[in-house]
Formats: sequence, structure tokens, C-alpha cells
Amino acid sequence: MIFSNLKLNSNEPIYYQIEKHIKKTIENGILSSNSKLPATRELSKIIGVSRNSVITAYENLELEGVVYTIKGKGTFVTDKNIALKGEWNIEWEKKSNEYADLSCYLDTVKSEIPWERGMISFKSISPDGELFDVEEFKKAFLNRIALEGHKILNYGYAQGYKPLIDYLHLYMNKKGVNTDNKDFIITNGFTEGLQLILSSYTNAGDNILCENPTHNTSIKLMKLHKLNLIGVDIAEDGIDLMELEYKLKNNQIKIGYLTPSYNNPTGIVINGEKRFKIYNLFKQYNVPIIEDGFNEELHYNNSHIAPLAAFDGKNNGVIYIGSFSKILFPGIRVGWVLADKKIVDTLESVKRCYNIHTSFLDQAILYEYLRSGAFEKQIKRTRKYYKEKHDFAIKCLDKYLKPKYIWGEYGMHVYIAIEGIDSRKLLQKCYERKVIFAPGDIFDVNNEKTDTLRLGLSRITMEEIEEGIRIISECVDELKIQ
Ligand SMILES: Cc1ncc(COP(=O)(O)O)c(C=O)c1O
Repeated sequence: MIFSNLKLNSNEPIYYQIEKHIKKTIENGILSSNSKLPATRELSKIIGVSRNSVITAYENLELEGVVYTIKGKGTFVTDKNIALKGEWNIEWEKKSNEYADLSCYLDTVKSEIPWERGMISFKSISPDGELFDVEEFKKAFLNRIALEGHKILNYGYAQGYKPLIDYLHLYMNKKGVNTDNKDFIITNGFTEGLQLILSSYTNAGDNILCENPTHNTSIKLMKLHKLNLIGVDIAEDGIDLMELEYKLKNNQIKIGYLTPSYNNPTGIVINGEKRFKIYNLFKQYNVPIIEDGFNEELHYNNSHIAPLAAFDGKNNGVIYIGSFSKILFPGIRVGWVLADKKIVDTLESVKRCYNIHTSFLDQAILYEYLRSGAFEKQIKRTRKYYKEKHDFAIKCLDKYLKPKYIWGEYGMHVYIAIEGIDSRKLLQKCYERKVIFAPGDIFDVNNEKTDTLRLGLSRITMEEIEEGIRIISECVDELKIQ
């Protein structure tokens, strides 16, 4: 009997196990074409399961074309089951194109040391989930879905959800940015914003200027677009102005990418005066700027520092990309680009081709959350939380490690350099003692700055910060002795 060797387990749904068994029996040639399967009632009794499970299995197999039913007669094996027999193996690993191969090559997530349970990980700079205001978010979700569920669950517009765009207009105005003649497009986080701009306004081989070090994801995207990265070194107060001018003057730069607040990895926030100088240099050499404003909300001293986009007034030289990924919830993947109307018009078409639009449900909930006032409270809480961790980490670094320098304002991470140490070797040593961090070379456009590392603080406890830094310092001592 073909079902006598069917052993049911409790991990998979019963109907699925029946389906698998029937397919296997056909593959093995035990059930031949047009042979009749037991009636559903009969089979359910034989194997001791509900009749519904058998009916579901037969229905699914019929949908797949494995069996057919004749009313009043029963269910039979089709004669088109050749596909179930014999192997068909395409060697996909040999078929990927240059774009995919480069993406895989650049994908540090796959090649870096992974997190394991029990480790102290300074690797991440994603927000601490404990901080998320889940109750307010739930309320926002319920309110919006009750108000316009029929709309936000349908297709929306590539440019984005109008109430959110209107909110962001005012939000950016409050930051001092003139939004006349400009428009917004809502994107899947900062990352998609940058991707849309690079795909629309750069060609392979173009020179793109950026701070060095800079955000690893941005480096990956720029390299994936085959751009020539012209890095400008960073000093304690941000990008080096002399080098910036030299490079703007002597290279045909297509566009610049800058993170004036909380450059990742250094955490440096450039002051207002220097921002003005930077803006004017780009203007003087007629090089547009992509400004990454991802973390501005974290400015702790409450004195707002205007983004570069604010200096641009009614001009159109700055393309601003915003994101609430760090201050709110990265999981909802909502960011925005604010730029000249003509740029947004182009990005809209490109986005429509790529992915139609960013989830309207997510945009609508975010809008409701923002307008409810929960946002302001959340920012205050978040700033305080990260500031305390940051202050404590600095104390521990001074006590145990005494690095060559420690950079970064009260963000979610610190960036340090340790004299005479290769951070890759240090990472290997620390890994053996269950401590990991991000080695500095992944943020360098030429994979240099090997004596630096970034310590992400957002998701670890004070105890872990102290213990982790103590272990790192012991590993540094060991490496120095060797
Ligand atoms: C420099 C920088 N920009 C932007 C982002 C946020 O990207 P997204 O909005 O795609 O999550 C990050 C996140 O780490 C970042 O470090």
C-alpha cells in the first residue's frame, strides 16, 4: 500500500507531507500515470488524519498539474509528471552577470565575521529596539487603517503619500531649507534615494567626490555604479578644506556626496561656519552636492545646525536625502529626496520602473506617528539614551585603551585610531574573546585607514561597553608584544 510507509511529523503541515509523499511515490515510479488515488475519506482513515488535510493536499496537487479529478470517479495521476522524474540542474553560479558579481564582491555582510550568541558586538549601529515606541506606532497604525485602509492598501503614487510629503515640506522648512521650486520623492530609506540619484545622474567612469572615510553602503553603491571615488580626508572637525578645494579644482567631479552630521564612521558633526565654506567651494567649482542628512535629529545641544541644503536657498545645487532610520525605525524603510522639481520628476519615473512606489501603508503610518506628536518625545528620549552611552564609552576608552584619537559627537558610535595596530588583526584576536567591531578599512574608499575602527554603541549595555573595551585593550597589548 503506497501510504503504509508515510511517517507524519509534527513540524510540517499534514497536507504538505501528504503532497510530498504522493510526489515522491510518482517520482519513484510506484504510482504510474492515470492510476487512481484513494478516495479522500478512505485515505484520511488509513493514515489517521482529518479529511480536510487530504482534500487540501489533493487540491494543491491538482493546481500543480500533478493529479486530475473526474467528478464521480475520483482523483488520478496525470501523465505529465515527467518534470518530477529526473534532475534539472542549471548552474546558476556560472550565469550571474557583472553587476551581480560586483554586488556579491562588495557585500561585506556576507564576508565579515558574523554575530554569535554571547558576543559583545560593537559592529551594529542600528537603533536599540527597546527604544521603539511600539504603543504609539500601534495607535498610528490603527488610526490610519481605520481612516483610509481602502486607499493605503491599494497601489499608490511613485512620488509618495501626499500627507507625508506635505509634512516633510514643513519639516524641512523648519530646518531652514527653502523648498520653493523643489519637490520630494519618498524612497525606501536613504539607500534607495542615493541609488535613484546615482542611476539617473551619473555614468560609469564619472568622478564622484566624497569624504574619506564614509558610509560603507554608499561606497558600495558608488562602486556598483562604476564611479571613480575621489576621497577627501577628514580631520577632527570634518572634511579637510584644502584638500577639498584641490580636488574640486583638479578633477572633473560630476557630483559630491557628503554627510555633514554624524559622518559614518567618524561621527563628526561639521559646524555651521565650516558648512558654509564647504557649500561655497562646491558652488564656486559648480559641482552639485548630494547631502546625506540621515541623522541630523540627533544633534544633542539642541542648537540646530543648518544642513547644506539651507545655504542653497532658492538655488538647486544641493540634493538632500533624509531618513528616519536611526532616530525612529529602520524597518519601515521610509526616506526622502528633496531636490529641484526637474530632478524629482526624473527620479519619479526611474522609481516607477524599479519598484512602483514605497509602501503606502508604511508611509501613512509614519505620517500618523509624526503628526501625533510622538516623534518629538521619541527624539528627546533617543538623544538622552545615546548620549549617556556615548559619554560612558569615552570614559572607558580613556581608562582602558587610550587611543591615538577618538572622534564623534554624541552619536550611536565612536571612531578610534590605535597607533601601530592593524584593526583586522585586532578583530581576529577580539573575536576569539567574543568581541567584535567594524574595522576601519570598510569605510575607506581604498580600503586603507587600517589602524582605525568603529565601535557601535546603540545595541549594547553599559556593562558590555566596559567589558568589551577592556577586552579590546587587552588584545591591543597582546598584539603589541607579539
Ligand atoms: C551615513 C548614513 N546614511 C544613511 C543611513 C540610513 O540609511 P537607510 O535610511 O537606507 O536605512 C545610514 C545608516 O546607517 C548611514 O550610516
